[in-house]
Amino acid sequence: MKQAYFLPFYIGILAWACVFCVKAEDPYRNFNWVITYGQISPLGVLQRGILINGMFPGPTIECETNDNIIINVVNKLDEPFLITWNGIKQRKTSWQDGVLGTTCPIPPNSQWTYHMQVKDQIGTFSYFASLGIHRAVGAFGGFNIQARPVIFVPYLKPAAEFTLLVSDWWTSDHKALRQRLDSGKALPKPQGLLINGSPRATSFTGQTGQRYLFRVSNVALTTSINFRIQGHTMTLVEIEGAHTLHESYKSFDLHVGQSASFLVTLNAPAKDYYIVASTRFTKPVLTATGILHYAGSTAKASLPLPIGPTYQVHWSLKQARTIRWNLTANAARPNPQGSFHYGTIPITRTVVFANSKANIDGKLRYAVNKVSNVNPATPLKLADYFNIPGVFKLNSIKPMPPVGPVILTPSVIGFTLHDFVEIVFQNNENSIQSWHLDGYDFWSVGFGDGQWNSTLRKKYYNMNDATSRHTVQVYPKSWSSILVSLDNKGMWNLRSANWPRQYLGQQLYARVWNNEKSLFTEYDIPQNALRCGKAK
Ligand SMILES: *[C@@H]1O[C@H](CO)[C@@H](O)[C@H](O)[C@H]1NC(C)=O
Ligand SMILES: *[C@@H]1O[C@H](CO)[C@@H](O)[C@H](O)[C@H]1NC(C)=O
Repeated sequence: MKQAYFLPFYIGILAWACVFCVKAEDPYRNFNWVITYGQISPLGVLQRGILINGMFPGPTIECETNDNIIINVVNKLDEPFLITWNGIKQRKTSWQDGVLGTTCPIPPNSQWTYHMQVKDQIGTFSYFASLGIHRAVGAFGGFNIQARPVIFVPYLKPAAEFTLLVSDWWTSDHKALRQRLDSGKALPKPQGLLINGSPRATSFTGQTGQRYLFRVSNVALTTSINFRIQGHTMTLVEIEGAHTLHESYKSFDLHVGQSASFLVTLNAPAKDYYIVASTRFTKPVLTATGILHYAGSTAKASLPLPIGPTYQVHWSLKQARTIRWNLTANAARPNPQGSFHYGTIPITRTVVFANSKANIDGKLRYAVNKVSNVNPATPLKLADYFNIPGVFKLNSIKPMPPVGPVILTPSVIGFTLHDFVEIVFQNNENSIQSWHLDGYDFWSVGFGDGQWNSTLRKKYYNMNDATSRHTVQVYPKSWSSILVSLDNKGMWNLRSANWPRQYLGQQLYARVWNNEKSLFTEYDIPQNALRCGKAK
């Protein structure tokens, strides 16, 4: 009796408390990551790699929707270090994003702890070192978020899951690669392609008749890949956190920075089969293989390797249009993904970003709307928070491609919190582009050839069941359009996922803002925030 009497009171207290401690009820996962140099030889040549807790690739983060992820990063390198979390939305806290515009680098021989919550997210993601060209020699890994047990996932539970990270590789030291970029030269072509750190040796074992989930991420610096498994079809079930319609593919293109999950049933004669990743739109074509091993079998995989597309651009574009959102499937929360009718929301603003290559004082640079980003010593987010003048100019980048020469400056565009924005990526170059937005997922609504104009919306936009994702490709001499609901306040990196381009200026920051200071829209600066530059 007494208990019952007090119950409403306790619930009231709980509800009240939770306004301030929403995070407290979700589980915590703690990691301590020590970053060191170590000798590795993925292509048979001994070289200096960057390891996480002695591992190359780094450990895979396995977690569940809404978990709090606490990662203490101990930097034992001889240079500053940061990690960014590719596709983890960092709701209300761009402070944790781990890029130079939001976070001071972790100095050598010191540590810093990331605090993030994978709020309302499911799916296959990745992480990687974000400074310089560190990720060319390691410091990347998988980041998998399972749905909570109470959420019905729109596919049968696999017998096991495999995480595959595909990367391009150089046998050069990262300092040599960086020096080359700093001196204004392009990176040389990659020398090899790896699956989980090896060009040939990675093996996955399954039982005949069982179904497996392959979580595949393109963590390459420069190249799109095609992925396929000999003798098997792959059913796409998830792409960057969105459940898709269950389309079957013989092979699938993943562009730089993208991830996808496939269900594969082991329904072929029991033996070994080649898993293949090969580069797209490159000459020569680089290939990495792994093995899908049927438990108990002894027959080796047989050549030839299954073929995949190499240069065919139109093939890729056509395939991209087959990727569809399952409107009735649950999202990370128990509501249908399609309950948010993005196609009916009025667009409040359109911006067009055109990439270009420039030569400035004899050095190669890359630009967006004629601005080649440079990172000031003071992170933009800290300059904003502490009102430090002279670090960046808001709207230093124009919302439409301007005429005139390329300039070097911190590149920042202002948006109003809750804007619903159409971003068109216009690629007038001959190479494929890959664009990534931190802090969000966006609807990848359209791809087309040539110059974009507003009349193309009607013909080419999927306003019904395009998937939401964090990275979109832009084909050569083409455009790609995205729609994004800017509901996450902060300073967010919009970048070329192609790392040398990003490093040499093809990136900018979207400052999503309103003047009302409230912890409901943005968390305060973390107590452990590092100080650097003018924020020291
Ligand atoms: C979409 O999701 C629903 C609900 O989970 C599921 O029943 C259906 O099979 C899925 N449809 C396709 C085509 O994948
Ligand atoms: C828009 O682009 C299409 C395709 O390139 C072209 O046919 C059309 O004339 C353009 N419309 C305008 C108004 O520029």
